[in-house]
Order: sequence, then structure tokens, then C-alpha cells
Amino acid sequence: MGGYTLSDDAPLAHRNTLRVAAKARLLAEVRDAAKLPELLAYPAVRNGEVLVLGEGSNVLFAGDYAGTVVAMATQGVQVEADGERARIAVAAGERWDDFVRWTLGQGYAGLENLILIPGTVGAAPIQNIGAYGTEVAEFIESVEAWDTRERRVATLGAAACAFAYRDSVFKREPGRYVVTAVRFVLPRTRELRLDYAGIREELARMGVARPAPFHVAEAVIHLRTRKLPDPAVIGNAGSFFKNPVVDAPQAEALRRAHPELPAWPQPDGRHKLSAAWLIEAAGFKGLREGDAGISNRHALVLVNHGRASGAELWALAQKVIAGVEEAFGVRLEPEPRVVGG
Ligand code: FAD
Ligand code: EPU
Repeated sequence: MGGYTLSDDAPLAHRNTLRVAAKARLLAEVRDAAKLPELLAYPAVRNGEVLVLGEGSNVLFAGDYAGTVVAMATQGVQVEADGERARIAVAAGERWDDFVRWTLGQGYAGLENLILIPGTVGAAPIQNIGAYGTEVAEFIESVEAWDTRERRVATLGAAACAFAYRDSVFKREPGRYVVTAVRFVLPRTRELRLDYAGIREELARMGVARPAPFHVAEAVIHLRTRKLPDPAVIGNAGSFFKNPVVDAPQAEALRRAHPELPAWPQPDGRHKLSAAWLIEAAGFKGLREGDAGISNRHALVLVNHGRASGAELWALAQKVIAGVEEAFGVRLEPEPRVVGG
């Protein structure tokens, strides 16, 4: 063999940031993407389901996984640069935050608002990661993947990826593509994005009047560290729910009844509502049932206080969905991939 390792009945507790003690019937750790076709053709793999896994920071294992977990551990970065910009191809298994810091160190701009997001580079296009007014889609030229349906290597340009808020073709066709590399285009200079809540105030607090990208990164690090619970301290998957996008009449009716509900108009005329506000107003912030809970720091974050099972966490999440729907008529959708729920 070579290029990957296989293990049976593999524990996943250290492979998901919610720290759910699930197991996979088969686990393949892949170090050479060229070996994917061989691995996926292996009868024990081909005859069951396959779940691609990065760092497990956006997955809830609601039960054990009866198929094969393919953990992407491929490494490598290739750069073609001119004076103005760089095209950078990054292997799927590289850590996203390491990559962001490396680009800033090399003097490239653009990814500063996306610092400190956990996970791998290969997972970044799946839900089009975003934070502080920036989405990764803006910097993706193409995504290289193994297309399990067509059984060939596919290069998807940005348009084919169909990126949207926390969405892409990869999320809409789960299981079809194994992302092997992402090609980014990053400029040397770019207008900074400072308008998202808190960045300007944080820069002022830092005493920075003329910010460079690394100052913005530092401000974002401060804001994220203050707001979000650290998975190294308490199991979580970041935002557990997407901010719901509703049509204008529904947003207006909700805002009339609740003027303090944060809402952001979208280019298509609809409005994005703050799920955290809805969850807090429905009374769920800080709730704990056994070891499953809703963070008392941020209402959008489902937390594992210790030994919660995936089923218990999923049951609490469903209770939140039902409670918010009853209170406000808005149905929240989970952001992470819920496996076996
Ligand atoms: P995983 O959790 O392993 O997988 C996530 C999904 O992607 C699964 O469906 C999986 O099958 C699929 N996938 C992973 N790798 C591949 C691949 N190579 N090919 C095909 N499919 C693949 N997200 C944001 O957008 N913005 C944030 O600000 C943010 N903050 C977070 C803060 C915390 C504390 C945590 C824990 C999470 C946060 N997240 C955020 C969510 C998470 O970091 C991202 O979704 C990240 O991209 C997941 O990377 P991962 O490698 O852990 O993916
Ligand atoms: N809020 C509450 N109660 C809370 C927390 C927040 O009412 O407990 C309100 C705040 O007052 C604020 C609003 O909710 O007005 C928005 O809060 P925040 O700025 O923290 O952003 P968010 O909408 O909760 C989104 C992303 C995060 C991303 C941040 C920063 C989603 C689902 N989440 O959170 O992404 O880091 O913005 O850009 O879009 C993730 O996807 O895992 C994630 C962490």
C-alpha cells in the first residue's frame, strides 16, 4: 500500500472538536492524494459510505459511523508569484490557520479577517468559510478534487463551486467530491475590511491608526478569543446554526415586534437574522442538559461539558430549533455536517 493507512473500529474522539466519543468502522488516513482512487476502490470502502474528514471542527457525530472515514492529512504548498499577486496551491490536509499566518508573513493580503478559524484548507471551500466581513470564496481560483461519481480528477473553477453563505456545490452534493487541493490568488495589497462589528474599535484599543493586514489579524484574534469558547477547553464546533436568511416581509414583521433583533440586508433583497439573538431571546443561552449545553458566552455555540454523546448534543440542538421556531416562526439549520443523526 503506502500513501494511506487503514484501521478498523477507529476512535474519533480526538478527531472532532465537539469531542464526541464516536467510532468509525474503518478509518483511512491519507498522506498521498494520488492514492485516493486505489483506496476508494478497495471493496470494504467501495461497498459502504464514505465521509471525508479534516480536523472535525464542523462535524457532529450523532452516532457511530458505519462506513469509512477518510481523514485528509496531505501536505504541501506551491507558489507562483509576480510582483502584484501570488497563485498558491495548497494541499487539503494543511491547517487553515497555519496557511493564513504564512500568507501574512509572506506579505500577501486578504486572509487577515479569516485568521484563527479551525480546520483544514481542504474543508475551507466546503462551507465557504467566512468571518468578520470576508468569505474565502473571494480568494479561490479553483478547487481540485477527486470526483467519486465520475471517477476522475476534477478542477472546479470558482463559478462551478457555486459559493454562497456557508454553502457550495460540495455541501450540496455531500460525498461526491474529495477535495485534494485549493488554489488561491492573493494580492500584495488590498483595501482592508474594517466594517464588521468591533474591528475598528479593537484597532483603536490597540492604538493602531494606520492598520496593515497583520494588525487586522491581531484585532480579529482578540475579538474571536473574547467571544468564542476555545475547543481545547470545552468541546464545540463554533456556530452550530447558520444565521437564517428570510424574505423582506418576514424580516420587517420580526423587526417590528423585536426592534433589537440584529438583521443584515442581503444583495438579493432578503435579510440575514442573528441566530444567536433568536436563541438567547428564546431562553436557551447557557442551558445545560447533562453534559450537552448551549454556551453561556455565545448562544450560537453548542458545547460538550464533558461526556455528552453525539445523540445528546443533537437532541439539545433539535430542542433549540423547535423552541426558536415556536417563538419566532424561523427554522434554524445546523451549520456542521450532522453524521448519523
Ligand atoms: P471537518 O469538520 O473535518 O469537515 C467539515 C465538512 O467538510 C464535512 O462535511 C466534511 O465531510 C467536509 N470535508 C472536510 N474536508 C474535506 C475534503 N478534503 N474534501 C471534501 N469534503 C471535506 N467556520 C466559519 O466559516 N467561520 C468561522 O468563523 C468559524 N469559526 C469556528 C470557531 C470554532 C471554535 C470552531 C470549532 C469552528 C469554527 N468554524 C468556523 C467551523 C470550522 O472551523 C470550518 O467549517 C472548517 O472549515 C472545518 O474544517 P475541518 O477540517 O475541521 O472540517
Ligand atoms: N448575539 C446575541 N447573543 C449571543 C451572541 C451574539 O444576541 O450570545 C448577537 C450579537 O449582539 C451580535 C450578533 O448576535 O449583534 C452577531 O454576533 P457575532 O458577531 O458573534 O456573529 P455571529 O452571527 O453569531 C457569525 C458567524 C461566525 C463568525 C462571526 C464573525 C455564522 C453562523 N457564524 O457569527 O462563524 O466567526 O459571525 O464574523 O455565520 C462559524 O461559522 O462557526 C462561526 C463561528
